Parts: sequence; structure tokens; C-alpha cells
Amino acid sequence: MNSLQSFLAVAPVKPAAAAARLPSSRRARVSACLATPAPAPTAPAAARRELSAASRAVMADEAKYIVGTYKRAQVVFVAGRGCKLYDIDGREYLDMAAGIAVNALGHGDPDVDAAAADQRGRLVHASNVGYTVPQVELAKRLVEASFADRAFFANSGTEANEAAIKFARKYQRVAHPNGDAPTEFMSFTNCFHGRTIGSLALTSKVQYREPFEPVMPGSTFVEYGNLQEAKKVIQSGKIAAVFVEPVQGEGGIHSATKEFLQGLRDACDEAGALLVFDEVQCGLGRTGYLWAHEVYGVLPDIMTLAKPLANGLPIGVALVTEKVAAAIHYGDHGTTFGGGPFVCHAALATLDKIQKPGFLAEVTKKGEYFKQLLKTKLGGNPHVKEIRGAGLIVGIELDVPAGPLVDACLDAGVFLLTAGKGNVVRLVPALIVSEKELEQAAEVIRECLPALEASTS
Ligand SMILES: Cc1ncc(COP(=O)(O)O)c(C=O)c1O
Repeated sequence: MNSLQSFLAVAPVKPAAAAARLPSSRRARVSACLATPAPAPTAPAAARRELSAASRAVMADEAKYIVGTYKRAQVVFVAGRGCKLYDIDGREYLDMAAGIAVNALGHGDPDVDAAAADQRGRLVHASNVGYTVPQVELAKRLVEASFADRAFFANSGTEANEAAIKFARKYQRVAHPNGDAPTEFMSFTNCFHGRTIGSLALTSKVQYREPFEPVMPGSTFVEYGNLQEAKKVIQSGKIAAVFVEPVQGEGGIHSATKEFLQGLRDACDEAGALLVFDEVQCGLGRTGYLWAHEVYGVLPDIMTLAKPLANGLPIGVALVTEKVAAAIHYGDHGTTFGGGPFVCHAALATLDKIQKPGFLAEVTKKGEYFKQLLKTKLGGNPHVKEIRGAGLIVGIELDVPAGPLVDACLDAGVFLLTAGKGNVVRLVPALIVSEKELEQAAEVIRECLPALEASTS
């Protein structure tokens, strides 16, 4: 038995058990929280957290046995409830990351859990060789709620974008039977579309692409928001599809304008190019609208979704119009796992809640409240350049790296993400986050701002 195995043999994985290992004063606070209502905001810890032997054992084994692709936050999570995460020592964290905009309904949503348990007992996987009911039902629900006519299910955001890339190429091939089909793609600065070789070719960050070149050839990057440049590239006639995030997440929380998206739509229509909205991060209620593009009144030919759709279970989907779907035939694309009954049943339960009357209005209200709160509490700090976003995808742009602030907040019990060039604090909490929790997050960030000074002095 290695150290991780021996640790796991005795480690509690249930929040209640994790809480039971705490001193009685803290235990009361954690178990109150587990009973659902959010506990009163707690003062941030003044000192850095000491990593326990248990944490260090997991980290050492991770360093030894896992390919080193991640620079991880120094915390080992073992449980979650609502907007709270618990580490291996029973410490509680307010989760403002939601698994990178994934756990839209928080951790352990009882309805999604019940749906998953119900489906798990009946059928988890059957492949796409036969029909399964949850997949067809989910496709119907997504189509009925969107511009789209049909769905293709995958397992992740990058796979949803790979499907969109292939569908665009095939659509153009069918539309240009004489062999002069456009095959190239355009995307934008600060964009992120995934890590597989096609999606990677459309992802702007040079460091992500360069080590793997040659990636898919024929991609052009234009400055996000620069319609004139974008039009020139589209008018070249070489572009099969334009990929754009209505709100950029990884790139640093930048929102498109209506003029920009409408201009892209018009230019694509004139040139015969397809317009793909990547809503993997900003879609499904995060902006306060079911689809981030709704607020602009501009429709795509393809939209990709993933992160929040099954509240934490892996899923991706490319939603397409009939014009695109008509070009795709048996064997053109496929997947073993994509659209399995287990994940689709969980996704249906997730969608039920996000589509409940009033849910999205609450997201908008809480998002506005949060932005105002952050502006009031942080606006006076000289390192804070801008606080921006839509709904509950919010960015705090700094004039220095955000890492020290994010680390200090973690020590103080609030889990945050960075974005952009590492100079943006990204806040993408569960959409069920309470105003009280948002107040707690804003206050802890304010109290931890001195960490920025310490890092620049
Ligand atoms: C906009 C966008 N597209 C695609 C992806 C890739 O998704 P995944 O990591 O599930 O492959 C991400 C992931 O962050 C994303 O934010």
C-alpha cells in the first residue's frame, strides 16, 4: 500500500465525516452548513494554512504518478455541498470556481443526484448502437429551447468543438461540390476552444499550441471585437466557419458587443461561412440568459455547450441548424460514450432547474449585486483596473498577477480562479450562490488585497 492508498483507507470522503474530524467548535459550524443554509461569513484566516501530512501525502503521490500537466492549487478536496468545498482536513471553503463554471447547481444537488441514482440503477451505458431515451429527450429539450434543429452529443467542450469543426468542413464540402470548398477557420484573440488538436488550432494562446505544431492548418486569429479585420478575413472566401465566444471565459471575461456579433453574422451569411458560438463556459444560464447570445439577438449556425449541462458529469453537445445537419451522414462522426443515458438523465434534471421560472432572473440579480459589491469594496484599490462580466461570470482585472491574491483567498477559505494572462480573478460560482455567500467572497477578497502589495514589493 502506498501513502495515498493508506491515507484513503482511513480518509473520510463524506462531508459529515470530514466535519467529524474537526475540533468541536469548528464542527458545529461545518455541520450547520451541511444542513444547507449558508453559515454566517467567517473572518479570513490571518496566517497561511499549514498543509497537513494527509495533504502532503496526496500531493507527493500526485507529483509521482500523474503526468504533470496541472499547476494545482495547494488543497486536496474531498467533499462538497452547495457552494462549499471541504478539504481533506475538514476545512471549509466558499467555492467561487464551481469546478470552472461546471457545478451550476452547486455540489450535491439533490435532484440531479436523485436522477443520476435512478438512471444508474437502470442503465448507465449502452453506446450509440441502439437508441436510449434520455439522449433523445435531452436533444428534444435543447432543440426546443434554442435556435437549433438537432444535437450531437460528446463528452467535453473540446469534443463539442471538434464536432463543430468537422460539421463545418462537411457542410462546406456539400455546399461546394466542385471541390472548391473553404476549409479554413477564424477565431479571436484571448479565445479558448479546447486542447484537442482541432480545437487547439483555434485557441489563441501561443504557449498552448506551439509545442504541438503542426496543429490543424488554416486558422486565422483576429482581435476580439475588431469587426473590420474579421470581415476582411471572412470575405477572402477561404473560411469554413468562424468560432466565437459571446463572453470569453479563460481569456479574461470579455463580452462581445451586439454590433460585433451581428457584423460577423452578416459577413458569414454573405460569404457562405458558418458562425459557431462556443458557449461551453458562458452558456446555460451563466450570464442570466439561458444562452449567452440571447441578449444580442444574433443566432449562430452551430452552438457548442458542455461544462454545466450535467452539473459535473462529463458531457458536451454541438447544437446545429437543419442546414448543417443535412450535410452530415451515417459514419461522418461518432463517439462511444457521448450522450450516454446516465449523463443525459442527469442533464435533464439540471436543465429542469435552470429553466424553472425565475431562476435566470435571480442569476441576473445576484450578478448585478455582486459586481456592485466588488466595485464598492475593491474599486479604490490602485491594482484593480476593472470589474466586469455578465450575470455570474465576473472578472476582476488587476495591473499585477492575480496569483498571490487567489492564494491568500484560498488560505482565508475562498476558492477562486485566475484568467486572462494571469492578471484577472475569475469568479464563476454556482448559479445557486446566495447573496450572503457573495458578500462573504467580496469581503474576503477585500481583506486579502494586501497580498498584492506583498508580491510587488
Ligand atoms: C469556451 C470554452 N470552450 C471549450 C472549452 C474546452 O472544454 P473542455 O475542457 O471540457 O474540453 C472550454 C474550457 O474551459 C471553454 O471555456
